[in-house]
Amino acid sequence: MRRILFVMSGQEALGASLQDLGSFEKGVLELRQFPDGETYVRVDSDVRGAQVVLLCQLHHPDEKILPLLLLVGTLRDLGVHSIGLVAPYLAYMRQDKRFHAGEGISARYFARLLSQQFDWLLTVDPHLHRIHALNEVYSMPALALTAVEPIAQWLRSHVKLPLIVGPDGESEQWARKVALAADCPWEVLSKQRFGDREVEVSLPHVCEYLDRTPVLVDDIISTGRTMQQAAAHLRASGMQPPVCIGVHGIFAPGAREEMEAAGLRVVTSNSIADVSNQIDLAPLLMLGLQQFLR
Ligand code: R5P
Repeated sequence: MRRILFVMSGQEALGASLQDLGSFEKGVLELRQFPDGETYVRVDSDVRGAQVVLLCQLHHPDEKILPLLLLVGTLRDLGVHSIGLVAPYLAYMRQDKRFHAGEGISARYFARLLSQQFDWLLTVDPHLHRIHALNEVYSMPALALTAVEPIAQWLRSHVKLPLIVGPDGESEQWARKVALAADCPWEVLSKQRFGDREVEVSLPHVCEYLDRTPVLVDDIISTGRTMQQAAAHLRASGMQPPVCIGVHGIFAPGAREEMEAAGLRVVTSNSIADVSNQIDLAPLLMLGLQQFLR
């Protein structure tokens, strides 16, 4: 069966790697805005009967989701066999409970919306915390891969004597697995969040690791405050400046620049295109794609 890959704007580099590794036909489309702000969609490839894969970074999802859904509608009208979504970063997973009265549980509503549109979903390290598995909220087949091995691979060639540090309890799942894969010790700090940009992180027992390079590993870097707080504590304990690895660099405006100005080395995977991308997810995604494509 023909396999066609459509790459949404902003994911061209990762899209090109997948294109090469997976020998996909390249999907051609025109997506633009009418002067009134509505979206124009035109598919220029013959998609009838094809397995279609859409690669879309879901960073800043609100502006991407409507064009994506209009494209899905167009592709279905044109007679595709199936449409799968590769969203290396899966948005809205952090609003996974009603933290305050009256709030929405957006993770559930977003999952429902996507599940109605796509035949399957492939993602990397979604923020699974109070939701333990994607199938608790996604009704379509959904596969969550982990960037643990690509991160460990990067560490093996870039950092001598690393100490993996998880900046908070939620990051323990990555810190422990990355440390095991990279064969090095690990520590986890504890964090309290007081607001979108206010976090406080506690000090671990790191003194025995002063000869090592601390490597903070987390799933998401957004405002960068978690990483900055953790880094400040590590430095106050006499450690070298840490390397900060985020699987998904969603970076609020100015966040990466602020971290770099504070002397931090910021490294991310290419789940979201950014100059900090050093960890390539294409081979991992290809392995996942094999489960959905024949
Ligand atoms: C928390 O739930 C996540 O795992 C990250 O620790 C968090 O999203 C990082 O956010 P920020 O960069 O804004 O501190």
